Amino acid sequence: MILAPSLLSADFGNLKKDIELINESEADWFHIDVMDGVFVPNISFGQPVIKYIKKYAKKPLDVHLMIVDPDRYFEDFQKVGADIITIHYEASRHLHRSISSIKSLGMKAGVVLNPHTPISVLEDIIQECDLVLLMSVNPGFGGQSFIENTYNKIKQLKDLINRKSPNCLIEVDGGVSLKNYKKLLDFGADCLVAGNAVFGSEDPIKTIKEFKN
Ligand code: DX5
Ligand code: ZN
Repeated sequence: MILAPSLLSADFGNLKKDIELINESEADWFHIDVMDGVFVPNISFGQPVIKYIKKYAKKPLDVHLMIVDPDRYFEDFQKVGADIITIHYEASRHLHRSISSIKSLGMKAGVVLNPHTPISVLEDIIQECDLVLLMSVNPGFGGQSFIENTYNKIKQLKDLINRKSPNCLIEVDGGVSLKNYKKLLDFGADCLVAGNAVFGSEDPIKTIKEFKN
């Protein structure tokens, strides 16, 4: 299981400290939430901040783009060190082209689905995806509560992946905690994003260890 703590819940006044904490922990990836205030009702941070995250991070950067027109920035994100880029189905007009562009820049590529978007829209793109990210909250903020219908979607996605793209990973993002992670893995999730559950805990290193065990 891959654990990707979300830096959205980190201490922005002390980002380097939290990056080093993840470096030392058993976590696998850094989950980086980029929000533009248009696609989602919140603004987070962009390339200049990611450039500094990359400088200190010793693990892959999993960059989740919650922005309109993501294609305009693939090269920029590649230059500042993104290893994985995921883009929203709901923000993409030419998803096949976008996924190909990300991969041609040498990064892994994935599609993100909002809670209301059915798995069936992936039928003709899943073969191109390294991963699919299922939103288990409405994107925009950390610390929201998990939407239960996600289990059902993981199961449907797992069936589609088994049929058409066995190497594609399932990532789940939003409201993931030590209470629901086992069930998510049982249903077929491969990667879990956790913001509040990690950085809101008393001992993040220990919390990460519990997730990993
Ligand atoms: C929400 C972001 C998430 C968020 C998760 O729009 O995509 O990655 O940071 O935070 P938690 O784990 O606190 O729900
Ligand atoms: Zn995210």
